[in-house]
Formats: sequence, C-alpha cells, structure tokens
Amino acid sequence: MRRASWWLGLATLTAIGANCGEDGSSATTTTGGGGEGGEGGGTGLVCDAPFVTKGPWALRVDGVSARVRWEACDEASMGGIMVTPEDGGAARTVASKATPSTLASTYGAPLNPSAPIDYAGTYYLHEAAVDGLTPGTCYRYALAADASRKGRFCTARPTGTAFTFAAIGDTNPALGTTDDTIAALLPHAPDFTVHLGDLQYYDSLLETWASWFPVMQPLLAAGAFLPVIGNHEYEKPDELDAYALRFFGDAGFDGTRSYHRFESGGVWFFGINSEEPFGPSDPQGAWLVAQLAEAKARPGFRFSIVSLHRPMLTCGDSGDLPDAFAAFHPIFEKERVLFVLAGHMHGYERFELGDGPVYLTTAGGGGVINDPSENLARPYCDKRVASGDYYHSVVFEVGAEAVIGKVVDQAGAIRDTFTTAIPAPP
Ligand SMILES: [Fe+2]
Repeated sequence: MRRASWWLGLATLTAIGANCGEDGSSATTTTGGGGEGGEGGGTGLVCDAPFVTKGPWALRVDGVSARVRWEACDEASMGGIMVTPEDGGAARTVASKATPSTLASTYGAPLNPSAPIDYAGTYYLHEAAVDGLTPGTCYRYALAADASRKGRFCTARPTGTAFTFAAIGDTNPALGTTDDTIAALLPHAPDFTVHLGDLQYYDSLLETWASWFPVMQPLLAAGAFLPVIGNHEYEKPDELDAYALRFFGDAGFDGTRSYHRFESGGVWFFGINSEEPFGPSDPQGAWLVAQLAEAKARPGFRFSIVSLHRPMLTCGDSGDLPDAFAAFHPIFEKERVLFVLAGHMHGYERFELGDGPVYLTTAGGGGVINDPSENLARPYCDKRVASGDYYHSVVFEVGAEAVIGKVVDQAGAIRDTFTTAIPAPP
C-alpha cells in the first residue's frame, strides 16, 4: 500500500481503544475532564486498578545498569519490577521511584472519537533503576502491579562483540502502518531501537499519546528505546515536557534531557535534538564535538553513530541542513563516525559520499509517505545510492569487520542492503 488510509487508521484505533486507564465503567478515581484550555471532552481519566496507564519501556542502558519506566494514574499504584536473565538465572525484585506530574491540558484526537484521550490530571512516572547487571546479557522484566506489562532489555555488549540494533523514525500509529512495520522488524531481534524523532502526531488529529503507547508497546517491550526529539514533539505548548521528555528524557547518558550518548560493543551513539541549535559553537554542538573526540580516545572504541531528526542531506520533500553538513562532515570523518541517521523526510535515503559517514534517512515508521525525490537538483544528490517511498525500519548488524544494514519494509521484505567496513582501531 503506497499511502495509508485514515479509514484503516480508524479501524486500528478502534481495535486498541480499550486501553487500560482510559474511559471505562468501573471508575475508582476520575480526574481531569476537559482541562482548562484543552480539547477532547470526555468524562475525564478513569483510573482503575492496577492503575498502570502506559508502558513499560527501558532506556539509559549501559553494561551494568538499565532504567525501566512506566506511567500510573494513581498514587496507590504498586511499584517495582521483577527482573530475570533471559537465558535463565535468579529473579530479583527492583523497587521503583514514582514522580508525580500534574498536566494542565486535555488533548484528544478530533477526527477519531474512539482514540483514548490524554486527560489533564496527575500522573505518576515510575522508574526502576536496575543495577549490578552483567554486560552483554539480555533480561526480561515484568511489573509487580501487572505482570502482563512486561519487556526486555540487553546490557551493553563488550567491545568487539557482535550485536544488532534497529532504527525507525516518524511513527504515526493512527495511520495504520506502524504496527505492521514494527511486526516486520521484531524478528531481527535488535538489542535496542534508535528512534529518529516525530514519535507521535497530534497534528494528524487521529492520535494521542494514550493511543500511541499500545501500538508501540511491542517495540518498547523488545529492547531499550532511545529516541531523539523531532519537531512533532512540540505540537502542543507543553507536549515536549509533559509527554516526550517526561517519558523519554535522559534516554542516554551525559548531555541533557533532550540529547544524549550511550555505547554498546565499542560503538558510541550520540542523539542530537535538531530542534535546538546544534552548530559547533552552540552548547549542544560543542558537546557533540567534545564527546566524539572523547569517545574515540576511549579504550575499545570502534566507531560512532550520530542520530538527529532533521536530515543534513536529503533529496526529498523536506529541507536539508547544508551549514550543519559543512561544519560537521569533516569532524565526523576525523572522529570516525560511520553513520549519520536522520528522520523527518517521510521515506528512505542512503548517501555514500566516498569519505566520512554514510548518511541515512529512515523516516518510514508510519507518517504518510512523501516524495523522496522532490529535490534531486540538490548538488549532492548524485551521491544518493538508494531511496524509496515505503514504510520501513533499518536493521544494523554490527559484526567483527563490517556493519550490514537491512532496510525492512512493513511486509518484511528487504528493500535495500548495504555493507560498511569497520576501520581498524585508531
Ligand atoms: Fe519532522
């Protein structure tokens, strides 16, 4: 299917509309209502035991620790998780800390009455800090409050160890293709997923964060989820802080709540917020330049990957970032960045310039696919070696000598493959 259908999206949302914690008939607590300055109406949040409204998901993973988060709608919610090594071993309980947030506005999906509403009210974000873990080991976890709410994460691999990770961008589950795209990705068993931003689209008028989570949950449960911030995380005045950063801030280490780094297998990942200034003289860009050099000097360093929402290079129907490219490309080449991953242009692109990193656009996670060849006159478009107008994710298999990339469409077909040699250690 070339383009998603709103009708299919409505059917999808109807199917998932019975999400725990949304409108129901056996309320124990009701809060919110229309919300001052909000939208969507409804009866307000209905908060039933076991009070879990979103998640769980994992992030901020290194070799010996991980964080597991979920949202509850009532202070009475039971905390903690049970953690078990995937390949067997003793289970243990890890307590969580709940942080309350009071959201002032209610947001609905005006064109989709069956979508659960993001109600104003007080929510409790639980975080379980799991430590003392074994490097290169995958773990299963389940919530003490509701054992059906569960997931998986893998600790960072020792340097040089083979591992697989995934990239996806611009997920817009209400349009009806994100679920298939995720289902096609999961058999590749990534340790974790890098999301290239534009997580959820209030602007589609068809979805909310409450409708987003159930569709995304299979991906959230499969491994750590490490997003960068896109422009659609700013659709409402409070969306960035009340939703995107409350859920996924501090996804990695160092940086700030909206940009970060993490590492696995000697590969260093840097997630940049391209909605904020990030030139080399801006605080975020200066951080990136310093961190790239610091990573390269660390024992066991193999290469780096930079992720940001807006593409520096694209021949599609969105803008490019020529100034950022001119400033960073030489730095990326010097500091051994092998890939620059971007979203925003709803399609797929791969640029091989002959020096420096491979530039990939992977923004086919569910938003309406647009024209990836609208601006072929841009001066670097003769260096674009692959492109496509299809829903997809990208699987990266990091091996001993090369990274093998596979572009997986929503039906599971491999649409593009590439092999990028890993240079010898510096
Ligand atoms: Fe975008």
